[in-house]
Amino acid sequence: MNINAAIGIFDSGIGGLTVMAEIIKALPDEEMIYFGDLARTPYGSKSKETVIKFSCEIAQFLISQGVKAIVVACNTASASALEELRQKVAVPVIGVILPGAQKAAEVTQTKRIGVIATRSTVATGAYVKAIQSHDSQIHVVSQPCPLFVPLVEEGWLNHVVTKKIAEEYLFPLKANKIDTLILGCTHYPFLRDVIHDVMGNDVTLINSAEETAMATKGILSDAGLLCAMRHDGRHRFYVSDEGTRFVELGEQFLKEKIRVITQIDLGKGNPYV
Ligand code: DGL
Repeated sequence: MNINAAIGIFDSGIGGLTVMAEIIKALPDEEMIYFGDLARTPYGSKSKETVIKFSCEIAQFLISQGVKAIVVACNTASASALEELRQKVAVPVIGVILPGAQKAAEVTQTKRIGVIATRSTVATGAYVKAIQSHDSQIHVVSQPCPLFVPLVEEGWLNHVVTKKIAEEYLFPLKANKIDTLILGCTHYPFLRDVIHDVMGNDVTLINSAEETAMATKGILSDAGLLCAMRHDGRHRFYVSDEGTRFVELGEQFLKEKIRVITQIDLGKGNPYV
């Protein structure tokens, strides 16, 4: 394995750039290849079978680009497809569920954890399994928040409507007296302030993106796969649909310029599948 090869990272669309931003912070010398499945986003309302199929196609594409590891930045894809991906590819595959779940299990004092995520992620029960594999005594309350993704993409981060919706979604978690809340979707770190206002100071918010970046560093280091030379920072981006909005919004998500972006078709007849 070429230790100077890029790290592959993918998401249903733009949200995975929050995970990429954290990985760039943790591993500034690494080159990254990002795939955003704009043509088929969102994954959060799709069936497990469909998300597995899309994820495997993207992983094959990233492998064809010679990546040394794959980070599944999408919570929905991590929750649905991690096992299948690990069977299909020969490089380390890192998901976002376990790092966030482990951190939450470590910090909870009352053993009452909340998880907010897409409908599909909640339906898999992946966060509950990951938390309870750490400590089976922990009580987990899960809440799908499907309106959060479009609100973030609209830029309504502190809008009165967002606050109202957050109060509605988060009410069952407050009623269950959780002390730790996992932001289990790529977009939710942008709503941190609103979520904090609603949940109050006594609830610790866990950002899966930060935990995944730390996990990626640890896994690459243990596998002897950290790069030996400094990359020039020109990461490559691939998208499956027209990418104007991806670049506009993505540069805010990433806090960096998106320079090299290519549109490709992962549909029928593509050479990567
Ligand atoms: N990236 C997805 C996730 O983290 C959210 C957007 C979608 O539903 O595709 O679950």
